[in-house]
Amino acid sequence: MTAVHKLPTVADTRAFGEALAARLRPGDLVLLAGPLGAGKTVLAQGIGAGLGVAGAVTSPTFVIARVHRPDPARGGTVPMVHVDAYRLGAAPDPRAEVDDLDLDAVTGESVMVVEWGEGLVEQLADAYLLVRIDRPDGGGEVRVVELVGHGGDWSGRLAGLPG
Ligand SMILES: Nc1ncnc2c1ncn2[C@@H]1O[C@H](COP(=O)(O)OP(=O)(O)OP(=O)(O)O)[C@@H](O)[C@H]1O
Ligand SMILES: [Mg+2]
Repeated sequence: MTAVHKLPTVADTRAFGEALAARLRPGDLVLLAGPLGAGKTVLAQGIGAGLGVAGAVTSPTFVIARVHRPDPARGGTVPMVHVDAYRLGAAPDPRAEVDDLDLDAVTGESVMVVEWGEGLVEQLADAYLLVRIDRPDGGGEVRVVELVGHGGDWSGRLAGLPG
């Protein structure tokens, strides 16, 4: 399945992440693709807010993967693993680096959200959702997201997202 959504502002991208989170469940793998500054982390922040996880969702310089525990006070029940694989791209064997993270140990019980993970982490789950974020030429703050579901039952689950 493929669906395209238009997100005019940062707030829209965040809200889109929250709405997406409501449709996610443990074991899901979400790949966030798009150029530098596209809004991948903003979207991950929205997903984290929607899942009700603890801790600020950021991309710290020296951390590749971070587990955000569910915060019961925010209604959270499922952990989110946020991975930013950007720096792994410079490694001689990025896939070996991904293997060393042992992410498969936490995939089943968590929602995994990965920036810069195309070609590196798809094997962590049977099915995954690719979210491609783009900045249209001359579009200012507008972002366009394309959702491409691979395997699984994404089309039924993703109906009615905003934008
Ligand atoms: N509609 C929008 N949605 C998301 N971000 C937007 C939007 N309009 C403007 N922005 C700005 O674009 C930037 C997106 O930054 P963000 O860190 O989320 O990008 P990224 O794709 O994670 O980049 P990187 O590849 O460096 O990790 C932020 O400065 C944000 O304020
Ligand atoms: Mg980022």
